[in-house]
Amino acid sequence: MTDPNPTELLDLALEAARRAGALLRDGRPADLGVAATKSSPIDVVTEMDLAAEKLIVDFLTGHRPQDGLLGEEGGGTEGSSGIRWVVDPLDGTVNYLYGLPTWAVSIAAEHDGERIVGVVEVPMRRETYHAVLGGGAYVRGDAHGEDIALRHRPAPPLDQALVSTGFNYVGHVRAHQADVAQKLIPRLRDIRRGGSAAVDLCDVAAGRLDGYYERGLHPWDLAAGDLIAREAGALTGGRPGLPADGDLAIAASPGVFEPLQALLEEYGAWHD
Ligand code: IPD
Repeated sequence: MTDPNPTELLDLALEAARRAGALLRDGRPADLGVAATKSSPIDVVTEMDLAAEKLIVDFLTGHRPQDGLLGEEGGGTEGSSGIRWVVDPLDGTVNYLYGLPTWAVSIAAEHDGERIVGVVEVPMRRETYHAVLGGGAYVRGDAHGEDIALRHRPAPPLDQALVSTGFNYVGHVRAHQADVAQKLIPRLRDIRRGGSAAVDLCDVAAGRLDGYYERGLHPWDLAAGDLIAREAGALTGGRPGLPADGDLAIAASPGVFEPLQALLEEYGAWHD
């Protein structure tokens, strides 16, 4: 094992995400939304998802065959370099199906289990979010290609905070999530449901949201966006004292994070 070179890993992740984002954007059939009422649009989306993951995996393993990989569609490989890529080729699948713009390609690199690189490509916004551990978080727009440093929003009192969340695909989990959201709404300015966890986390990083929380995320939904949010100065975590994980993931400006986490604990947001 050698020490990782985060800049090399970042460049690879940026290029893989750019190519996959272009494939998904340019390859989406124009009538996909219409097809949703007819045959099997899910298959088309699944095909695009698989094609994007294959592109990313081929690109990354072509350059770094010794690395491990965990992908939403393809299971995992161990690798021998200490680096593992965590890949969501299409986060926000339902938005993609309906032609809504909030979907993303998410790629993170971990070194011995610690996230060191994160890239979230949001093709329909023409934005690429990226971070290296300890190096800050940035967004790159298509128009001029410059990196702009990201900073979380100054914290308002919780009752003026705009907080996003997501709802799981499993019915009984969604039902409890709705109960929690119902209790939270009067305590906040408002709630949003964007439809892509990776984009929600980047929106916290960019100061477009005061906070975000969700139960039931997978590592690939979370890995890149969590690092980007933290590198923008936001706090991330799960239940009190724990890191963000499948039970509960929270990201918010310091000052919003603490009371939000306390309410989510009180409302039992991590269980049915
Ligand atoms: C989903 C999105 C959504 C979140 C779900 C995720 P997918 O990922 O991130 O915002 O609410 O929990 O599963 O299925 O589109 O990759």
